[in-house]
Amino acid sequence: MTSVSPSLVSPDISTQLQQSSKPIKLGIMASGNGSNFEAVAQAIENGQLNAQIQVLLYNNPDAYAAVRANERNIKAVLINHRHYKHREELDRQIVQTLCQHDVEWVIMAGWMRLVTQVLIDAFPKQIINIHPSLLPSFKGVRAIEQAIEASVKITGCTVHLVSLEMDSGKIIMQAAVPVLPNDTPDTLHKRIQIQEHRILPAAIALAANSQQ
Ligand code: GRF
Repeated sequence: MTSVSPSLVSPDISTQLQQSSKPIKLGIMASGNGSNFEAVAQAIENGQLNAQIQVLLYNNPDAYAAVRANERNIKAVLINHRHYKHREELDRQIVQTLCQHDVEWVIMAGWMRLVTQVLIDAFPKQIINIHPSLLPSFKGVRAIEQAIEASVKITGCTVHLVSLEMDSGKIIMQAAVPVLPNDTPDTLHKRIQIQEHRILPAAIALAANSQQ
């Protein structure tokens, strides 16, 4: 059996990160499974992240993330992008909903939609995204397939600030993950997600503290 060496995370999260004095008010945006939403909720529950999830926004009516939110009694609001003609119109609705729920930091955890200036202006430097590659490599959709096609031996995940250009904002934290010879997109994604669930809560704490 191939042994997988422990993942490298930078900046280091092996010691407890400094936590903000009052809970950070989060709005999480997700489109699908919501395992990253769950990881953030879990980190809050375990006392690893001093935060509060004010609301989950989801854009697919059958997103499992909404089920996870219901199970945790966290408000989940469906904003279906298909019902909006322009991306700005969609973002205006998103901003309104986030503001209604008193959100300070917006966390895109598998949202998979491009943002407009409307959202960026409402939450300047306070929107975070998680992407399944070591940016700036393999931006956009199919990041995991792109890594396998390029025969890279190490890939990973990145938490970064969101800017108008896709997957391009300032990098907050990254974790490296080995690509194994027989990896499929599915096996590699599973290995990457283990690291995503570690670094997303840590990166939220880090980003929020550095702006205090
Ligand atoms: C994650 O792999 C994330 O990097 C990407 O979308 C996926 C969402 O997964 N942006 P989940 O819904 O949190 O399980």
